Parts: sequence; structure tokens; C-alpha cells
Amino acid sequence: MKLDYPEVVDEVLKLMWPRKMKLFTAGPVACFPEVLEVMRSQMFSHRSPEYSALHKDTVLRLAEFLNAKKATVLLAPCSGTGFMEASIRNAVKLGGKVLVTSIGAFGDRYAEVVESNGRKAAVLRKPLGEPVLPEELDEALRKNSDVEAVTITHNETSTGVINPLRELAKVAKERGKLVFVDAVSSMGAIDIRVDEWCLDIVFSSSQKAFGVPPGLAMAAVSEEVFEKAKDVSDRGWYFDLIALREDLVKGWSTPSTPPIPQVAGLNAVLRIVERMGGKNSWLKMYEKRAEKIRIKVIELGLELFAKPGFYSPTITVVRTPMGLRSSDIYRSLRERGFEIAMGYGPIKEATFRIGHMGYITDQDIDDLFKELSDVLRNLKSR
Ligand SMILES: Cc1ncc(COP(=O)(O)O)c(C=O)c1O
Repeated sequence: MKLDYPEVVDEVLKLMWPRKMKLFTAGPVACFPEVLEVMRSQMFSHRSPEYSALHKDTVLRLAEFLNAKKATVLLAPCSGTGFMEASIRNAVKLGGKVLVTSIGAFGDRYAEVVESNGRKAAVLRKPLGEPVLPEELDEALRKNSDVEAVTITHNETSTGVINPLRELAKVAKERGKLVFVDAVSSMGAIDIRVDEWCLDIVFSSSQKAFGVPPGLAMAAVSEEVFEKAKDVSDRGWYFDLIALREDLVKGWSTPSTPPIPQVAGLNAVLRIVERMGGKNSWLKMYEKRAEKIRIKVIELGLELFAKPGFYSPTITVVRTPMGLRSSDIYRSLRERGFEIAMGYGPIKEATFRIGHMGYITDQDIDDLFKELSDVLRNLKSR
């Protein structure tokens, strides 16, 4: 396409990218070049047959990836928190009670979402760095037998801990509860089997492990949730799951305008998964990348924050060495062209985070650690 005002493009790009930066963020993350390429396309109507074909193909590919054949896969124009709110608004009665398991900041956010939507949260909170264990969930459910649902943060992005989702879901289902899973920073990077593990709502955002720009959220929703939602009176409009499913069934679209470029981007990623040899090869890439980063952290004499055995596949949280500040490490790396993530919440200065989602090469990792080693040496000698 011919540009009439090429300088406008330069001006905006200069605002966003005054200089080169390699991203090791917690999200948004660097996107696959193929994703960015398809997202450059001219827009078209979300009520056109072309959009329906794109939406349908993306939903079917995502359903395959999530082993969600019985559940309904929905795409919505929002970030992951939209589906967090939707889970409460659609599947818990007004004034009803939810058991929120919290292993960090995003578990705490779920409790806030529950309370701010007029439901009650009973919170099972673990010390930072630890997961929830199945026996702890069982005990909490024994004490709170009146809850309608359990929420689980699959991967706690603030502490770098992955919860044993399959085992936790089993406990909750045995006690007859709905299971809502915040998979914002795990979906796309580790196996999630929606039907087999009987998960009721599992949601994520485009800007995390799928390596797509922000603006699109996706969820798999069980039949049980749609049944329950019929009796919930204050579902609202924007996050009404029944309405979202109706538009899906009617015409492979959404009630309000979807972020078409992000849907195209997600479609491209799911095709890359296929080209890489399928889901297992793709997930292996994430596993190997996380392992490489953990080894390099330990080689630098640093300590991991998460409890051994529960290391996140998408973000490595590192204890800040004694006498240093995580904000100084973050700033020094940025000056050298590498953006990591600061610590989050109460462990903001005590930790720093290395995100490993999206488009990252082996060379990028080697380069980051070369710089990190140098930064630590300089900061210690100050
Ligand atoms: C575990 C977790 N849950 C929820 C969120 C919120 O997601 P979003 O910003 O897409 O609404 C995040 C964002 O980092 C997250 O890491």
C-alpha cells in the first residue's frame, strides 16, 4: 500500500521504539514475525463471510490445542480479566460464595473480582513462592462446603509458581464444585486438557504465551456453566457467556466488534504450532526454554523464588542478591537493550522476573545472561 504520509509512521514508531529492545517481559511479549505480518492486513467487516471463516478456523484450532471438544471455545474483545469477571457474573449466583485459591497477586485479584461483583470470597492463601496442594484444597472445601465454585491461578505470574492444576481440579470436581482457571500466563505454554480434567472455565489473553498483541481473550467454557448461567439474573451484557455463545453458533462471530487483527494473529500462531510438528513439539520448546533460563540463573549463583518442583514454564522469578535493588537491575538491563520484568506486589524489590513467552531465540537468552552477569558485577562493585 502506498503511504501518503510516511513520516507519520516514522514518528509513531519512534514513540514506541526509540531504540531496539529485546523483551523478556511478563506480557505483552515479543510476537512471532508471521503474526505481525498477518496483522498488517487491511480491515474488513466482522459481519462478513471472510471474518466468520477466520473466527471459525481459529476457534476450531484452539479447541484442538486445549482438548476442548465438549467445552465451547469463545473469543472475546477484552483482556483475560474480562473472562475472570465473566466466570463470576455467569456461573455464581448474586450473593453466592466462591473459594478463591491464592498463591500471589493474581489470585488476590480473583478475590477482588468476586467481591466487587457482589459475591463472597473465601480465600485459601498460601505463602508467596508456594503452590496450593490438593490436600489443602480438599481441607478448605471441607470447611467451606457451601461454595459454588473454586478458582485456581494455573500459573502465578508474580511468583513464578505453577499450580498442580489437574490434581486440584480433581479435588474440586469430587466435591461437586465448578472450577474456574486463570490460565492467562500458562495457556499455550503447558498442556491443559479442558474436557479430560473437567475444567469449567479456563481463560487466557493473547499477549502472553501465544505471542500475539494484547486485546483478545479466549476461554473454554463447559456445558455446566451455560446451564447454570440460565438461572443467574445479573450476567450483564458485555460478558454474558450465553450471548457470546449464541453469536458463535449463529455466525462464528461475537456480539460486539472483535479485534480482527489479533484473531488473525492467533490463527497464525496456531498454524505455526502445526508446522512445528504439533502441540507437543511446541510445548517442548517452552519447556526447554524455561529449563535453559533456570540453569543460567543458577550458574550466576542466583536463587529461584518458586518452590522446587513448581517452577513456571513461562516466567522465572529470581531473588534479588543481597544488597542490590531489583529496580537497579531492571534499569541497567534496559539501558543495555533488554527489558525484563520488575518484581510484583510485596516482593517488588526482593525479586526480579525473567519472562520467557512469545518470540525469543536461544541467542536472545545467551545475550541476556551475558548482560545480566555484567550488570550484577557492576552493581555489586558500586
Ligand atoms: C496470572 C494472571 N492473571 C491475570 C492477569 C491479567 O490479565 P489481563 O491483563 O490480560 O487482563 C495476568 C496479567 O499479567 C496474569 O499474569
